[in-house]
Amino acid sequence: MAKALLISPSYFIFFIFFVFSYATIPVFGEEYSYVKTVDFEKMNLPKEKVTHFQLYWQDIVSGSNATSVTVIQPVNNSLPFFGMVNIIDNSLTVGPNLSSKTVGKAQGLYASTGQKESSLLMVMNFAFTDGKYNGSTFTVVGRNNINAKVREMPIIGGSGLFRFARGYALASTYSSNDKGDVTIEYNCYVIHY
Ligand SMILES: *[C@@H]1O[C@H](CO)[C@@H](O)[C@H](O)[C@H]1NC(C)=O
Ligand SMILES: *[C@@H]1O[C@H](CO)[C@@H](O)[C@H](O)[C@H]1NC(C)=O
Ligand SMILES: *[C@@H]1O[C@H](CO)[C@@H](O)[C@H](O)[C@H]1NC(C)=O
Ligand SMILES: *[C@@H]1O[C@H](CO)[C@@H](O)[C@H](O)[C@H]1NC(C)=O
Repeated sequence: MAKALLISPSYFIFFIFFVFSYATIPVFGEEYSYVKTVDFEKMNLPKEKVTHFQLYWQDIVSGSNATSVTVIQPVNNSLPFFGMVNIIDNSLTVGPNLSSKTVGKAQGLYASTGQKESSLLMVMNFAFTDGKYNGSTFTVVGRNNINAKVREMPIIGGSGLFRFARGYALASTYSSNDKGDVTIEYNCYVIHY
């Protein structure tokens, strides 16, 4: 009889845990008073759709109007230029010609993150300035294996018309010149409301 009343240490630890976790439930309720679940239906969002943007990304590194500037030099000044960081404010144009209509800017940076092969980390916002897209942005973050014919990068979010956006961008080189300027075709497939 007396033996049955003895509590084993593991049971005792479980009992203490149970008492404490039970006692903390109302405290959690108070702690997260700033959090509310939103009724998605009541947000009145239009139907989700997929939009394809065909844009030309103008990486101008030469001359007095360069839009892509190396702010950190590579650790070793030979390919694959590991450690190099460029800050960009590159024009996004509707045609491959730099003088075609600019509908936004690709603002952000790219960093050379491959020690053995040329591979870039891209972090940029496509910030639109044209028509209904003016002020809306979507964000491209990903690995850019510049030796591949087509490079795929995720689109991870956005603002304005691109709230809740997700998708992918396919980049392929359209042209380059001997000064290092390049024009890249970006085909972006964006799911948004
Ligand atoms: C830089 O831009 C200015 C203003 O648009 C222009 O007048 C000038 O010719 C450009 N310079 C170069 C090197 O393209
Ligand atoms: C720079 O890179 C080249 C090619 O990868 C290599 O041969 C050389 O040793 C490197 N130099 C330094 C200082 O790391
Ligand atoms: C780009 O446009 C300018 C002005 O319209 C034109 O002079 C130039 O020839 C065009 N370049 C190409 C490669 O089509
Ligand atoms: C885009 O929006 C900004 C800020 O609202 C405004 O100043 C600018 O004129 C607009 N641009 C176009 C092309 O509509």
